[in-house]
Amino acid sequence: MSAPATPSNTVDVSRIVLEDVAGASFLVDRRAYVDADIAQLEQQRIFDRCWLYVGHESEVPAPGAFATRNVGGRPVILARGDDGAVRVFANTCMHRGAFVCREAAGTAKAFRCPYHSWVYSNQGELIGVPGQDAYGDCFDRADYALKQHRMDSYRGFVFIAFDEAGAGSLSDYLAEAKEYLDLIADQSEVGMEVVRGTQLHGAKANWKLLIENSVDLYHFRALHKRYVDYMESMGSQAPRERGGFARDLGNGHAANELPPAAARPLAHWTPMFDESLKPQMEATRQHFIDRFGAQRAQRITGMNRALLVFPNLMIIDAIAITIRKIDPVGPGALAVTSWAMAPKDEAPELRALRLSHYLTFLGPGGFATPDDIEIVESCQLGFANRSVDYCNLSRGMNREVPQTTDELPARVFWQRWRELMAAAP
Ligand code: FES
Ligand code: FE
Repeated sequence: MSAPATPSNTVDVSRIVLEDVAGASFLVDRRAYVDADIAQLEQQRIFDRCWLYVGHESEVPAPGAFATRNVGGRPVILARGDDGAVRVFANTCMHRGAFVCREAAGTAKAFRCPYHSWVYSNQGELIGVPGQDAYGDCFDRADYALKQHRMDSYRGFVFIAFDEAGAGSLSDYLAEAKEYLDLIADQSEVGMEVVRGTQLHGAKANWKLLIENSVDLYHFRALHKRYVDYMESMGSQAPRERGGFARDLGNGHAANELPPAAARPLAHWTPMFDESLKPQMEATRQHFIDRFGAQRAQRITGMNRALLVFPNLMIIDAIAITIRKIDPVGPGALAVTSWAMAPKDEAPELRALRLSHYLTFLGPGGFATPDDIEIVESCQLGFANRSVDYCNLSRGMNREVPQTTDELPARVFWQRWRELMAAAP
């Protein structure tokens, strides 16, 4: 007998997404954003089964470096051992559960649990147990190494899978999203790095609302009017006028790609930059052409893009490169963790411009993010009315080539969501 499709007490998950291709209609039941049973089921059927982004290898650059974070609702440690290998451990003591590492980031030869002082090496082995003779001869430290999660990386982006056997390979999982990770990783011959520092903020809204928002350029001109006015006063255009396209990258991943509204600090000089930077940027541009050919060089250096890696990683590559991890906190709240990424070998003036944009546009206090946070909270509040059943994500279904202001990326997300939620593991 097949597993029931209705694990929620109140909602049939197989009826949440109503797609009618012939009628160009795509509807999402609003209970998907408010129902506690659905939120719990997402944990099991999405976050416990998919490859999830943990961090970038540059965040643990040398042996002993570590960073702690929450991934898929679980506390983990991203660590580079003395042997140089990157691993991801469960941040919970094998004795009785306490965090073995309480720092956000740092360097350590070993992690000492503060509760009873069990000590683990930065490769996860249990190397110290005070009064070990009290455990008897059968106690073997090897049985109590830190729990290590299945981990893999692509071009420096590190992912883990809690479903060790069922998740398949990371390469297969990423599908065509790899092409977009390449477009970012190829921006420096010596490597890309996550710039030190992390932004944390939240919203009283379901996590999927911010995913939808992050791949939605339809709202740009309406919601970010203040920013559009400012940019237009500097001679740039809003997304609709710039063209570009949206793409389904397989497995729930999607991207938007379009010419930049303003500058790109990567070899794309415009009058926004100081004249003195022009020769250097043009030389860098020529270097890209030599490495990749004119067409790919133009795509790498001259296009903006937003990449969604299902379920909860966004990489927005515009003037700045913003990596955003969006996590649920129950059905009605979300947490955002953001990092800035940049070429390791970038000139200081360009790095400064990039980081300034990282703060002033997508930062928690920037031009865009407060608008986005306020509006997703407003959607969540609107759902409380309960007399309207569906949200409409049909925009552009009647078009052959999806435009960046169409809702294709959100549909791609929901199609994968439906597939995973309807299937018992
Ligand atoms: Fe960690 Fe006891 S819980 S040493
Ligand atoms: Fe926005």
